[in-house]
Amino acid sequence: MAILNVLKAEHPTLRAKAKRVARVDASLERLIDDMVETMHATNGVGLAAPQVGVPLRLAVIQVPADYEEPHAGELFVLINPEIVKTTEPQDIDEGCLSLPGYAGTIQRAAKVTVKARDRNMKEYRLRAEGTLAQAVQHELDHLNGVLFYDHLAGPELLRRTQPAASQATEPTGDEPA
Ligand code: NI
Repeated sequence: MAILNVLKAEHPTLRAKAKRVARVDASLERLIDDMVETMHATNGVGLAAPQVGVPLRLAVIQVPADYEEPHAGELFVLINPEIVKTTEPQDIDEGCLSLPGYAGTIQRAAKVTVKARDRNMKEYRLRAEGTLAQAVQHELDHLNGVLFYDHLAGPELLRRTQPAASQATEPTGDEPA
């Protein structure tokens, strides 16, 4: 496995609409493993394939095991995901591995139901809430070329969360994804 380079905003791949995955072959298996390793190494709760330069509708998500919420610690591979149900939006703090050191308060649905395929291309439905619901929406945005700060009314609402020199992790509640 390998830790992949995470593209930074505004790389053009992060602004493109990703293509559907047709099948999971050996190279895609490797990509999934590398994305999981990269997500762990960067302390992210999620990572989308466009963030590592691959314009495919694929994301991995894992909410830290010590979070007291459903599915904490469970690893999800989402291939060709689609949100099929959402609740009302609410304010939530968010960051992104492609924009280290920044966070913003945006609106996300508190709960979503997502339909996706796993790494065996088996379809599943996931009812997500809390951090998992936020990560699902964040990663699906990445597949459509959307970055979290697009949801802000203006760029001045982006907050610095840490000095530019140390960008390994984010300290507040807004784990990057
Ligand atoms: Ni992100």
